[in-house]
Amino acid sequence: MELSLRPLAAMCILLATVVAAPAATTEVEVEIETTDAQSSYIVHVAAGHAPRLPRRGLLTTRAYGSFLRDHIPVELSTPAPRVLYSYSHAATGFAARLTARQAARLASSGSVLAVVPDVMQELHTTLTPSFLGLSPTSGLLPASNGATDVVIAVIDTGVYPEGRASFAADPSLPPPPSKFRGGCVSGPSFNGSALCNNKLVGAKFFHSGLEAARGRALAEDLESPLDTNGHGTHTASTAAGSAVADAAFFDYARGNAVGMAPGARIAVYKACWEEGCASSDILAAFDEAIADGVDVISVSLGAVGNAPEFYDDTTAVGAFRAVSKGIVVSASAGNSGPGDSTACNIAPWFLTVGASTLNRQFPADVILGNGETFTGTSLYAGEPLGASKIPLVYGGDVGSNVCEEGKLNATMVAGKIVLCDPGVNARSAKPYAVKLAGGAGAILASAEVYGEQAISSPHIHPATAIPFAAAEKIRKYISAQTSPTATIVFRGTVVGPTPPSPRMAAFSSRGPNFRAPEIFKPDVTAPGVDILAAWTGANSPTELDGDTRRVQYNIISGTSMSCPHVSGIAALLRQKRPEWSPATIKSALMTTAYNVDNAGGVIGDMSTGEPSTPFARGAGHIDPNRAVDPGLVYDTGAEDYITFLCALGYTAEQVAVFGSSTNCSTHAGSSVGDHNYPAFSVVFTTNKLAVVRQRRMVRNVGGDARATYRAKVTAPDGVRVTVIPRTLRFTATQKTREYVVTFAQRIFGSVTKNHTFGSIEWSDRKHTVTSPIAITWPASQVAEM
Ligand SMILES: *[C@@H]1O[C@H](CO)[C@@H](O)[C@H](O)[C@H]1NC(C)=O
Ligand SMILES: *[C@@H]1O[C@H](CO)[C@@H](O)[C@H](O)[C@H]1NC(C)=O
Ligand SMILES: *[C@@H]1O[C@H](CO)[C@@H](O)[C@H](O)[C@H]1NC(C)=O
Ligand SMILES: *[C@@H]1O[C@H](CO)[C@@H](O)[C@H](O)[C@H]1NC(C)=O
Repeated sequence: MELSLRPLAAMCILLATVVAAPAATTEVEVEIETTDAQSSYIVHVAAGHAPRLPRRGLLTTRAYGSFLRDHIPVELSTPAPRVLYSYSHAATGFAARLTARQAARLASSGSVLAVVPDVMQELHTTLTPSFLGLSPTSGLLPASNGATDVVIAVIDTGVYPEGRASFAADPSLPPPPSKFRGGCVSGPSFNGSALCNNKLVGAKFFHSGLEAARGRALAEDLESPLDTNGHGTHTASTAAGSAVADAAFFDYARGNAVGMAPGARIAVYKACWEEGCASSDILAAFDEAIADGVDVISVSLGAVGNAPEFYDDTTAVGAFRAVSKGIVVSASAGNSGPGDSTACNIAPWFLTVGASTLNRQFPADVILGNGETFTGTSLYAGEPLGASKIPLVYGGDVGSNVCEEGKLNATMVAGKIVLCDPGVNARSAKPYAVKLAGGAGAILASAEVYGEQAISSPHIHPATAIPFAAAEKIRKYISAQTSPTATIVFRGTVVGPTPPSPRMAAFSSRGPNFRAPEIFKPDVTAPGVDILAAWTGANSPTELDGDTRRVQYNIISGTSMSCPHVSGIAALLRQKRPEWSPATIKSALMTTAYNVDNAGGVIGDMSTGEPSTPFARGAGHIDPNRAVDPGLVYDTGAEDYITFLCALGYTAEQVAVFGSSTNCSTHAGSSVGDHNYPAFSVVFTTNKLAVVRQRRMVRNVGGDARATYRAKVTAPDGVRVTVIPRTLRFTATQKTREYVVTFAQRIFGSVTKNHTFGSIEWSDRKHTVTSPIAITWPASQVAEM
């Protein structure tokens, strides 16, 4: 699942437009014929018009029943609308089954701010504590006591706690924080009172939106927080799983498995099911998590396709209210890289996380008949292939270039190794198809855009994944030989300095920000390649039906895996620095992040084999022990985010979706570039030499009341950068100082790239507070190379 689209998720893109106003008359005529069918919508209601709900609004769908009767005229009242959820914490409003005409009528009502079609969203570890520098004896981990007073909400596919020591009661932990009001529900397959404890303190599920979308109820035994997929169990244990000695996927990655915040409590909100995650279910999960009093929310999921407008993006809406209440929301950037502007969860209030590698490999070499060797990657754990070479064929010559099940010619494949192209079916389905056709093994070619990267999978048949260029050479070898041969040698787990680490995963989604290009994204990178963490007992590690294996731990990749690392680190910071806002925690992680790998070069990018850019790695790789003492921070709060939304030109109704009664006309003249972000993104749009100014305010959170910070600028190509003042003097802690940065284009047509990058570093010699600068150039000014 980590990198593949779910079929229904892709299908639901079709629904992704707002019902803004009643359609023109002629269009209404057409719609009457086609749209008596109901579909699901999220209705944002103006604060003054919302019915009063009891504190826990979720189960009280009745109040909005009468709201609907008041707002939908009798002639439109059949089929009767059905309320799925009422929201009062993450949003004000409800989700309901409506016809298109009922939805349009509601959208035109003065009581309603917006009517958003419910869409499906997609889901986007042993070595990582030491890779992140977490030590039980020094630094952030002991300083925060492992975050024992912090509750991390994980909105995902649920949890599979039975027999998983990551979620076992921990006698060394104090009782859970008393402010947490959540708990565990039970279902036929999930006994909350038996499975929940002082580690797993919450487990709830939300499926009304999903059931409405699929048009039939879930099987009764599925109605529970139980994770039948594995993804949610993996992310939750990565964030805050208890330590488990000698954990491994078969023999791979064997070691002590522990979450980033080993003392933090886990509250699971299941909103993702086999078909994907309905926006209405995600919003209900946010609503409940906020009401339960969690401290951090981890969301390893996002919209399908381009990031939606923020008012249309339920994850952004729910996250806004959470962040306004002091909850950190850490979100995955997505697995749609390496193209530009592919990142999702890009609102400024998210802590948006990209994915990079660890210093651990699972090499599996292809050795050709002519002795040439290509290193791939694999988590195959069965009987190895012999040392002697066996016949090698290309899938395209034996029935299916992508090695689809049922399409390979068994006569031509029997006993051979098959080279398979990427795409169409899941990676681990390809060797399985070869197995079914009687083949001996498979070599999986990677997509060209993935460059140097191949993705490890827990194959059930001998197979290795190799980078595109190596696959091309093997393809040439096959066509040049009369009897090509090969074997695959599995080398197990290799930890070491080569290749350098971290490197950016090719799939990690990139900036610039598709909706607000002056808000720098992604924010940071963290480990998201080949992560070991707990897995469900209700699904195989490959997620293939034909794979009958059940494992305690699985190794998977994705920004879904890097996000919970940052959620766990945010939990540690939350406990150590209880007075810090979510924006302060993000600022601390961004300005202390590192950009150099363990070989001393700039963190590489596997998609190009070149140094990565800040639009891939964000402000850099998180460095938890430094983040605890950042020196200066860039803080923002709900009012700043509203100013940002106003600067985007949102209407009063669109801004009100975020729960603000602010009138944007009082924010006239505000600019997105002045949002107090710990990074700079400047967009030059004109053909004239332009000058852009951005304003920032920093707060002194260093230990010393008196501090003097000096600016050091590394200017991006083509720009002159001026910082005024160049020195910031503080005479007390918590004091703030402002500065202004001027970005002036140099000579016209002087750059050769669409984006150029630099940085501003403030240093008092004790702290270095670094912000990346990204410049986006108009195509007309980018010189041909
Ligand atoms: C659930 O677990 C509790 C505690 O172990 C036990 O007392 C109870 O009987 C169980 N309920 C069911 C329905 O199995
Ligand atoms: C499979 O390959 C064999 C040998 O080349 C051939 O005789 C047979 O027709 C092929 N079968 C199919 C279904 O194409
Ligand atoms: C916002 O303020 C302007 C000017 O003060 C006023 O004309 C307008 O009616 C206000 N809009 C709302 C929605 O309150
Ligand atoms: C720059 O962007 C343009 C589109 O705006 C694209 O066609 C071009 O390939 C990009 N150039 C580089 C070097 O990425």
